[in-house]
Amino acid sequence: MDLKERIATELIAARDRSVGLTLEALDGPDLVAQVSPLMSPLVWDLAHIGNYEELWLLRMAAGEEAMRPEIDDLYNAFEHPRAERPKLPLLTPAESRAYIDTVRAKVLDSLEKAPLTGPLGEGGFVYGMVIQHEHQHDETMLATHQLRENGPALLDPSPPEPPPGDTALAGREVLVEAGPFVMGTSDDPWAYDNERGAHTVDVPAFLIDVTPVSNAAYLAFMEAGGYDDPRWWHPDGWDWRMRSGKRAPAFWRREGGQWLRRRFGRVEPVPPDEPVQHVCWYEADAYARWAGKRLPTEAEWEKAASWDPVAGRKRRLPWGDTGEHANLGQRMMRPAPVGSHPEGASAYGVRQLLGDVWEWTSSDFHAYPGFRAYPYKEYSEVFFGGDHKVLRGGSWATHPLVGRTTFRNWDYPIRRQIFAGFRCARDV
Ligand code: AVJ
Ligand code: FE
Repeated sequence: MDLKERIATELIAARDRSVGLTLEALDGPDLVAQVSPLMSPLVWDLAHIGNYEELWLLRMAAGEEAMRPEIDDLYNAFEHPRAERPKLPLLTPAESRAYIDTVRAKVLDSLEKAPLTGPLGEGGFVYGMVIQHEHQHDETMLATHQLRENGPALLDPSPPEPPPGDTALAGREVLVEAGPFVMGTSDDPWAYDNERGAHTVDVPAFLIDVTPVSNAAYLAFMEAGGYDDPRWWHPDGWDWRMRSGKRAPAFWRREGGQWLRRRFGRVEPVPPDEPVQHVCWYEADAYARWAGKRLPTEAEWEKAASWDPVAGRKRRLPWGDTGEHANLGQRMMRPAPVGSHPEGASAYGVRQLLGDVWEWTSSDFHAYPGFRAYPYKEYSEVFFGGDHKVLRGGSWATHPLVGRTTFRNWDYPIRRQIFAGFRCARDV
């Protein structure tokens, strides 16, 4: 398939996904309602996706005039915090649909004539940026669905069977020897500015868990009084623990002597072998200290995920440069059991680095050496600093176009609505 065909196919697939999560999933009032001050109304995400596409693919890349300049402000994420969005005079679901369809028809038209040259066009960069933006908002919309309290809207009545896990691997570690590796990328045409450029980082030897931490392991921490012992907690984490009163992952509750969780409106027993998800950075950090370990740094995570020490080169994906051996793309609607996907192991034998759950790292979100914001400061640059922790690897909800070993996600250390868990590491 040539590049333009591939772009068109991916644009269409992303849109099918977005429509499936909005107009096809819920009725108008549920699309307009806000389920949590942390999230936008779903109809905001939908029109924002179209507005971003119009801005970058029609105005910036093709030099067209704004279609509806009066709505730009409504869908500018920096003008209006999420909590305020339901009060804005947003497009209705039907108007949003008409708007995104019009934008899309023009985009597919202009793609045929697009030269795909220059910094925005080279390798289809700006199209890749817009496609990934839509998929990232789709994952955000899934987090909104997970927060909804009224009934399952998305779950398949006959879901795919989870792949077999291997609980014998839970808590097992592998050694990553000391030495340099290449962090970030200079040659992935659809990489974001924050992943560039490739640079050598010398990493001291460390041990890293073969699998993410399971629900069973996390439950052991809870049952050992982990939530009540300030020794395990970062001072700010202990503060969060005391103020919030939380003592279990989000969406868990105890009933009749067992732990249940709510998953997309359905209540079910917590599956012991699945990676724990919906824990914040402070909880991950406390667990790791209780276990005598720590969270991996971002560099450690990326080395364990991407470095091939025999070939002395970096892989784009843990198992190689192409193919898919991970639970990505919203097929399962849940993480796969720990130890699954043996064919997806990295060169060091570490499993499930991509997919299942985003993994909290110990690192704050900072620029790489020589960073240059491109094509706009508000994607990454304005978030650099000490306020956000980096997450790596993508979740079951992350699209394969976003799931790669160099991709960097970030959030506040108190956030639990994202599909995040963690694995531990240790000095040798
Ligand atoms: C990279 C997931 C933190 O959702 O805030 C969406 C992605 N940037 N629209 C976010 C993003 C602009 C971003 N994260
Ligand atoms: Fe956005």
